[in-house]
Amino acid sequence: MYSDLLAAAIDRLNATKFLLIITGAGISAESGIPTFRGKDGLWQNYSAEELATPWAFERTPEIVWKWYDWRRGIIGNAEPNPGHIAIKNMESMFPNFFLMTQNVDGLHGRTGIKNMIEIHGNLWRVRCTSEGKTMMLMDVPLKTIPPRCDCGAILRPDVVWFGESIPTAWLEKSFKVMELCDTLIVAGTSGIVYPVASFPQTVKSNGGFVIEVNIEPTPISSLADISLYGKSGEILPMLQKGLKH
Ligand code: OAD
Repeated sequence: MYSDLLAAAIDRLNATKFLLIITGAGISAESGIPTFRGKDGLWQNYSAEELATPWAFERTPEIVWKWYDWRRGIIGNAEPNPGHIAIKNMESMFPNFFLMTQNVDGLHGRTGIKNMIEIHGNLWRVRCTSEGKTMMLMDVPLKTIPPRCDCGAILRPDVVWFGESIPTAWLEKSFKVMELCDTLIVAGTSGIVYPVASFPQTVKSNGGFVIEVNIEPTPISSLADISLYGKSGEILPMLQKGLKH
């Protein structure tokens, strides 16, 4: 079905020295996790954009916390899918490799992948709203919603919300790998949430090659060198199987 474009993408990957992969919610869709902007992403009629903000948490912390509990409930029962696994396999096939995910579900980490940043954080980690220290949710006594830190302050999910900045160290790492990579695969993201939405253009401007994997065209499609339309859980394993590395 995709044969010519797929073959061209595999040729490019076989000549690649540094592979960067950027993923979004679409990569976890086949694990049964609702995407942010898909029709199943609504919770009690709230959209992700309404809930994933510092203002929503300030006004109604219980509602935001319960939304994350709902997401954690789905994610806790989900498994990495063939797309996540193909990415983990690619890590050992390239001389240099890096994964940047916008997902907070932790599914990439569960494949055992090492060279990665979760640039929007991780919903299994929490952060003290007063002291800023982070801890794993499973280590926190869940006596209230939201739970509290030892210091008495409310704990929040350790994720980057709309209107918040990505931590500087993570951004610096992102720009470094965007300079170093010669090929970028960008999979399962709508390409509309900045700054990550601008990263494919940055890679292009640095002289890199961009391969997009998505079930439908996105704003990234017009700048991608190759767009492969279909499920990431099907296309990424096909790409990986073609590699000679
Ligand atoms: P979105 O929900 O905006 O987009 C998901 C993308 O995945 C869409 O382009 C879909 O077409 C595509 N997709 C769905 N199923 C797929 C499949 N099986 N295979 C391949 N592609 C598929 O999610 P993101 O782009 O990740 O930020 O959203 C970016 C950020 O906005 C998120 O990290 C989150 C969000 O609100 C924060 O929470 C800060």
